[in-house]
Amino acid sequence: MHRAFLRGGGFSAEEVRSRPVIGIANSASDLNPCNMGLALLVKEVKRGVKAAGGLPLEFPTISISEPFTRPTSLYLRNLMSMDVEEMISVSPIDGVVLMGGCDKTVPAQIMGAISAGKPSVMVTAGPRPVSCHRGNASVTVDDAWPFCDRRRVGEVDDQEWLEFEGNLNVGVGTCNVMGTASTMAAIAEVLGFALPGSSLAEAGSAERRRIAYETGIEAVAAVQRGQAPRGLISMDSLENAFRAVMALGGSTNSVIHLEAFAGRAGLQIGIEKLQTWSRDTPYLTNVLPGGEYTLPDFAEAGGLAGVLVRIRDLLKLDTHTARGTKWRDELSAVSAVENTVIRERTAPEAKRSSLVMLKGNLAPNGAVLKTAGAEDPRFFKHRGRVVVFDGLDDLNDRIDDPELDVNADSILVLRGLGAVGAPGMPEVGHIPIPAKLHRQGVTEMVRLSDARMSGTSTGVVVLHISPEAAVGGPIAYLQDGDEVRLDAETGCLEHFVDDQEFASRKPFRPADPPTRGFAKLHVSHVLQPEYGCDFDFLREPSAPIAQQLTSQYQHKAEG
Ligand code: FES
Repeated sequence: MHRAFLRGGGFSAEEVRSRPVIGIANSASDLNPCNMGLALLVKEVKRGVKAAGGLPLEFPTISISEPFTRPTSLYLRNLMSMDVEEMISVSPIDGVVLMGGCDKTVPAQIMGAISAGKPSVMVTAGPRPVSCHRGNASVTVDDAWPFCDRRRVGEVDDQEWLEFEGNLNVGVGTCNVMGTASTMAAIAEVLGFALPGSSLAEAGSAERRRIAYETGIEAVAAVQRGQAPRGLISMDSLENAFRAVMALGGSTNSVIHLEAFAGRAGLQIGIEKLQTWSRDTPYLTNVLPGGEYTLPDFAEAGGLAGVLVRIRDLLKLDTHTARGTKWRDELSAVSAVENTVIRERTAPEAKRSSLVMLKGNLAPNGAVLKTAGAEDPRFFKHRGRVVVFDGLDDLNDRIDDPELDVNADSILVLRGLGAVGAPGMPEVGHIPIPAKLHRQGVTEMVRLSDARMSGTSTGVVVLHISPEAAVGGPIAYLQDGDEVRLDAETGCLEHFVDDQEFASRKPFRPADPPTRGFAKLHVSHVLQPEYGCDFDFLREPSAPIAQQLTSQYQHKAEG
C-alpha cells in the first residue's frame, strides 16, 4: 500500500523500491523569512539522498519565526519538537534530514529527533548576507537595536526609518551575527547532527547548496551506520558544545536548549558544571555582536573548526561528528592560522568567559550573564538600588517617564516574564535605558530579568533568573530601592533584604493561568531554565526534576 500510494504521486516502480527511505522534516514557511530559503534548498537534499540510493520524502512541520511569534518563539519550541518527534515516529521512514534555521527551529528539531530515535542529520538555513545603509557598508541585524534607541529619542526621521527597514535584511537566511541561530547551528555541528564546517555558509550560496547535497548523502550513511541521535548526546558532547559557545561568545539562549537536549537523553548538566566549564573556557572569537568582525570574516579566518582547534585540550575528542568520524580525527586536519578574528589563547580578551553562570539568594537555581560585547566591564561588579517593573505593560508605561526615580547606578529589574509568566520567556530582558538617562549619554546599566534576550543583543543583562517570579522565586519579592549585588567574577547575584522583611512581603502575582488549549498545557508542564524549559512529560523519565519545582507548578496551575 505504501508503494501504491507513492506511485499515485508520480514515483516510478524503481524509485519506490529505493532504500533507505529518508524523511525530510522541512520548516520552510512564508511566516518565517529566516527559513524561506529551505524551500529551494530541499531540492539539493533530495539530490543527495537519491545519489546515495535512498528515497527522499519531504514533509512540512511547524515553523517558528523569532520576530513573528508572540509572546515568544520559545513558547512554541516544545510544540514543534512534539510535531517533529511524532512525524518521525509514525512515518514509514528509516532516517530523517532536519531542515531548520531560525532560533528555535533548530533546537526543536534536535529535541524531537532525540526522542524519536531514528538516525537524523541536519542542514541549517545559513546566515543572510551582510547589507549596507547610508555609507555603512557592513550592516548586520544587531545594528537594529541602537537604531531603534535613536528612533525612540527622536534622532531618526521617518525617511531614514523607512530606508533602514529596507536595508536591514537583503536576503533570506538566519541572523547574520553570532546570535542564537548561528550559535545553535554551531552546536548542531559540535553535537554531531550537522556536517562539520556547515554552519557559516551564506543562505542561497553555492556552498550552502553543496552542504545540503552532502547532508542528503550523509543521511543515507547515518541509517547504514545505525546512528541513533540519542547516542550523540552525552555529558562529553554537551560539554564540548557548551565550551564551543563560550569560545564563540555565543547566545545565552543556548544554555536553555543544551539543558533541554540533556533532559531528552536522561541527563541534566546543572549549574555547577556550567560554572566550571565557563570559568576555564576562553572567549576567542572577535565576531559580532560581541566583537568587531562579520560572519564571512569569521568563516574566512577558520570558522568553528579554527576555534575548536584552539581549545582542543579542553574538548572530549572521542565524541562523534555527523560524518561518523571522531572530533579527534576531524581536528587533526585543522591548523590554527594566526589572525585578528580568532584570538590566540594568550591574548588578553581570552582571559574572561563570554557567558557567566550566576547563583545567589536572588537566583537560587541560577541565572546567566553574557559578558561578550558588554560596553562597560565596570558593571560586572556592581551594587545598586533596584527599580522594578512588573511585566511589559508596566515597563512601557514608565521606562521613559521623566519622573522615574532612577540614576545611572540603578539596577533595572523586569519580572513576570519567565517560562510560566509570559508564557515562554520573551526576549525582552534587554531593558532599554530610560530615555532621560539615554539623553545624558548613559549607554550601559545593570539589568536583571527572568526573561531571555536576543542572541543579537549585548549588555550587562542578567537573564533566566530562576525560579522566575510567576512561580514565587525571590525576584517576585523585590521592591524599588532594595540593594542588589552582581559579581561576575565570583558568579554571585544577591539581595541584601533582611530575611524576615523579605518573607513578610506580598510577592508579585502573575495573571490568572490560561484555562484551555496549548497555553494551559504549557503553563501546567513547562519547567524552569535549569531543565531547559522543556515539558516535564517530554524529558526522558530518568532525567531528574527537583520536587519543590514540581509543586510550584502545581500551585500555579491551581491558581
Ligand atoms: Fe530568525 Fe534571527 S530572527 S534567525
